[in-house]
Amino acid sequence: MKDRDIEKLILLEKKRQDNEIELIASENFVSKDVLKATGSILTNKYAEGYPNARYYEGCENVDKIEILAIERLKKLFNAKYANVQPHSGTQANLAAYNALLKPGAKILGLSLSSGGHLSHGFKITISGIFYKSFTYEVDKKDNYLNYEEILKIAQDVKPDLIICGYSAYPRTIDFKKFREIADKVGAYLLADIAHIAGLIAAKLHPNPLDFGVDIVTSTTHKTLRGPRGGIILTNKKEIFEKINSSVFPGSQGGPLMHVIAAKAVAFYEALDPSFIIYQKQVIKNAKVLADKLIEHNIKVITNGTDNHLLLVDVKKSFNLTGLEAEKILKKHNITVNKNTIPFDKLSPKIASGIRLGTPAMTTKGWKEQDFIKLADQIYKILQK
Ligand SMILES: Cc1ncc(COP(=O)(O)O)c(C=O)c1O
Repeated sequence: MKDRDIEKLILLEKKRQDNEIELIASENFVSKDVLKATGSILTNKYAEGYPNARYYEGCENVDKIEILAIERLKKLFNAKYANVQPHSGTQANLAAYNALLKPGAKILGLSLSSGGHLSHGFKITISGIFYKSFTYEVDKKDNYLNYEEILKIAQDVKPDLIICGYSAYPRTIDFKKFREIADKVGAYLLADIAHIAGLIAAKLHPNPLDFGVDIVTSTTHKTLRGPRGGIILTNKKEIFEKINSSVFPGSQGGPLMHVIAAKAVAFYEALDPSFIIYQKQVIKNAKVLADKLIEHNIKVITNGTDNHLLLVDVKKSFNLTGLEAEKILKKHNITVNKNTIPFDKLSPKIASGIRLGTPAMTTKGWKEQDFIKLADQIYKILQK
């Protein structure tokens, strides 16, 4: 590279990624093939529009790439319709809202401190500025979703859209119950599966499309182990047409064709049986990590996990803030993120918890024994 500054920084980042124990639940290590597509000459191509209906000439190859990405994605999630153009998970959510709602409509999602995402209506984001946003919480007693409570809130708020699917919820989501709630109050239902997409693709978590949700949004770069990006799925034709025009021209310009090619490669990899073995290991690793931490009397929210992540209450366990725990662990080469825990009294920038995820280290080949050792190490480091 002629630009030595950037070359040096990429090499340093490579070294960091090679050497640190990566526990950020939303990160992963993509394959060489995904990287190859992301770094390909496809970045040169403008392709506004959709396959066979573009605003530019010369799209004969990228059309085929986007069609492959769509077909593979539909197969992976057993979906009737798919849009692979959103640049990120947030873009996917905004496009989905814009497809279904008018500005000022009411949206109901899980609060940030209980594990929701900024783009689910948080006040300082477009989702909270353009829409009237309301929140539900997890149950105070056990920190699980309480569907009866959510129904009561929904009956009170009468939202136009209910959002399920989260950034920091360690338990299985009952999409059937959410569909029933949405039907009772006449709301659309959106499942944001950004975190659990890989588990769903491997059939290790229920698929929201099997329960009649209106729209599914996701990122492609977390458990799904693809390039950084977003996707939208639906089984409803009338909604799909709105989604397409809401993505382009509604909220985006030219699609990132190099990223769409990399998404196609990631979907190809996720359709391989080895992906199921990987996802099973992700879950096994998360469970032993949680169990071993609990053995050390560490408070794990909901006392465990069903998926790829867990939340540790470091305030209660070690009298540390999430920020302090994150910094201490980083000094020992362990990368985590501070995270609010349900009903947190501290702000998200300080937080009472840390979030631990197993997808990245499982990609590096870690098994149960490695996570048992890691739990002991985390305990010893934070106890000091
Ligand atoms: C549930 C959920 N939705 C959406 C997003 C946003 O994805 P992105 O960072 O690609 O905008 C995230 C990212 O953390 C997430 O956890």
